Amino acid sequence: MSKSEFELAHIAVAAVDLEAVVTAAQAIFGAEASHIEEVLSEKVKLQFMILGGQRFEFLEPTDPQSPISKFLAKRGGGIHHIAFYVRDIDSKLSELKTRGVMLIDETAKPGAEGCRVAFLHPKACGGILVELIEKPLS
Ligand code: CO
Repeated sequence: MSKSEFELAHIAVAAVDLEAVVTAAQAIFGAEASHIEEVLSEKVKLQFMILGGQRFEFLEPTDPQSPISKFLAKRGGGIHHIAFYVRDIDSKLSELKTRGVMLIDETAKPGAEGCRVAFLHPKACGGILVELIEKPLS
C-alpha cells in the first residue's frame, strides 16, 4: 500500500449551533463559508470553510437520531471526525474488512457534495473517527 493512497479531505467539527460556530470562525480567520448543505444519510446540515489552507466541515444535527446528536449529548461540541479521500472506496472497504479493521459502514453511502462515503470505527484508529470519501473525478 503506497503512502499517497490517502489524501486528507477535511477535519469535521460538531456544533450545537452551526451558525454561531461558522460566525465565530469567520470572525477569527476571516474566511468565507460554503452554502449550507443537508446530508440525509447522517441527518446533518453542514458548511465547509478553508482555514489555514485546510478544509473544515462544520456539522449540526437536523434530527435527535443523528449520530451528531448523540456525539454532542455525550461529548459536547468539538472535533468529530477526520476525512480522507480514497480512489476506490468499495475496494478500500473490502480490503480493510479483510484485514480485520473495524468498520461502522461496510458499504459506502451518499455523503456531502454527492460523494460516496463510509466511516471506520473509532476503535480502529486510536479513538479517532475516520471518514473515507471516494474522490470525485475532477
Ligand atoms: Co465529513
